[in-house]
Amino acid sequence: MAARCVSLWTRLPICAQRSQVLRPIHRLLSSPGTVAADTRREEQSLGIAETGSEDRTPKKRFSEVQKERREQAQRTVLILCPNKISEKKFLKYLSQHGPINNHFFFESFGLYAVVEFCQKESVASLQSVTRLSVGTEAVIPFRSRFFNLKLKNPPSQTSEQSCIPCSNQSSPSSKKLFELLCNAESVDDQLNTLLKEFQLTEENTKLRYLTCSLIEDIAAAYFPYCEIRPFGSSVNGFGKLGCDLDMLLDLDEIGKSSAHKTSGNFLMEFQVKNVASERIATQKILSVIGECLDHFGPGCVGVQKILNARCPLVRFSHQASGFQCDLTANNRIALKSSELLYIYSALDSRVRALVFSIRCWARAHSLTSSIPGAWITNFSLTMMVIFFLQRRSPPVLPTLDYLRTLADAEDKCIIEGHNCTFICDLNRIKPSENTETLELLLKEFFEYFGNFAFNKNSINIRQGREQNKPESSPLHIQNPFETSLNISKNVSQSQLQKFVDLARESAWILHQEDKDHPSPSSNQPWGLAALLLPSVANSMSHAKKKKKKPANERVKNLLESIKSSSTENSTNTSGKRTDSTQA
Ligand code: GTP
Ligand code: MG
Repeated sequence: MAARCVSLWTRLPICAQRSQVLRPIHRLLSSPGTVAADTRREEQSLGIAETGSEDRTPKKRFSEVQKERREQAQRTVLILCPNKISEKKFLKYLSQHGPINNHFFFESFGLYAVVEFCQKESVASLQSVTRLSVGTEAVIPFRSRFFNLKLKNPPSQTSEQSCIPCSNQSSPSSKKLFELLCNAESVDDQLNTLLKEFQLTEENTKLRYLTCSLIEDIAAAYFPYCEIRPFGSSVNGFGKLGCDLDMLLDLDEIGKSSAHKTSGNFLMEFQVKNVASERIATQKILSVIGECLDHFGPGCVGVQKILNARCPLVRFSHQASGFQCDLTANNRIALKSSELLYIYSALDSRVRALVFSIRCWARAHSLTSSIPGAWITNFSLTMMVIFFLQRRSPPVLPTLDYLRTLADAEDKCIIEGHNCTFICDLNRIKPSENTETLELLLKEFFEYFGNFAFNKNSINIRQGREQNKPESSPLHIQNPFETSLNISKNVSQSQLQKFVDLARESAWILHQEDKDHPSPSSNQPWGLAALLLPSVANSMSHAKKKKKKPANERVKNLLESIKSSSTENSTNTSGKRTDSTQA
């Protein structure tokens, strides 16, 4: 068992421990005007409720969070520092340009500092005293907010060098996670622990918005009024440390005229180039931005223009932050999807815990991959969890149609003819009356999808109920806004079958544990930790080799027998399984 453990856990990302390093500068410097960072306030501005308890504080709208974070990023700079510097002197030096709100250090290919000034003017002041690097190589001049800090006189500082605490930008080591899960008090505790360890930290979120802001500076060379907005898991509440950074180039501001009307019988329009379609316009715009990033973008490497994809994009690595970035344009529906997921993630503290665990479970069993292919994506998995939570009785999450009925005039949103309207103020959505534990929800999730009629039914979070599949793809998950589209069209029958087999096996493991709970001191992986072991893969290949009845069939039969006996005897579950037919 121990050997199997190792093989699974080594597949998870290995990295160092996370530490709390967002440092209010007042602890280091007592310069006048310095403002202490209010970490609690910043956590709230992520709009994410704490896990394990219902947070009753008002939650911010998605647009408010985006606006605040964007403004914060515009006051922030990124600095490549010498490996050892005196933190105090460094901050004193930068404070010449104005008070600093907060800062942190992190290690990537070198030691980096993220410094947030209180005022935007401080950035301009710093830029005004910064020179272009002088070396033997020719440089392309560009006044960015990404600096190199050099020591004028390195040896004299050696005596004052101190070890700088660095913020970790990656998920915990597999060994550490394993220990944490095995030492948890309950399965609920395990799910919440996994969430806490994998969710984006305050510093990582800041770095994501800062990276967008730095890219915006480059794109603004071509399109002065453009905005680069993060979307996807970086902002929707489901981001895991190490996830990619999805960006949207928003050119809408260019076309916005001031509300002030001119008098007279004239109308002014900009002279523009016309192209045959929106898609061609998007491809052309992304093509030049891709060139810009490639040639002039400090720290942007491995730029690939993937312009013939359904959603054209420019993919690149931002070397300093370590983010894999996907830049798209004209993709407002994806931004609206992110807002919808943000609302679902913040409505009930169980949602994120369950989604994170299912995503980790899927990754551990190679159901998902960072390479595009015939497998299920994290986005599809999230939709499946939301749908499952809508199907509980009483529901944990409301349907999208219900969220639309709560919308008022200012929430109205039509994009390219698609109705994307839903309530944006999540404080006006009534909390769920469902009190099921995470443990029960996890178990029921696996049972529900282990027995779902994928061959004839479609998953639909708009209505929160199964519908007949409109086409023959193995897995059909309706795109919530472009309702004629299937977000999981890429998934093959064999990948879906693998998902079903693993779901059944996992339900079986949890049922078995109900009967015979291994004690945490026994060092046996239990609960969520046991689910992350590659047991199915092994038992399946074993079964194939021995030409036995397939493992999934055996598991299904066993589950059914357990279920029928537990429904006869059970008195303790408040959850009711919704109807579903066999896969
Ligand atoms: P990660 O795996 O953590 O990156 O999750 P993610 O939600 O960011 O997924 P991904 O980077 O693949 O996609 C970014 C966003 O694009 C998603 O959150 C969705 O809003 C949108 N998206 C991704 N795939 C699809 C799809 O197949 N259809 C539609 N309509 N939108 C998609
Ligand atoms: Mg993403």
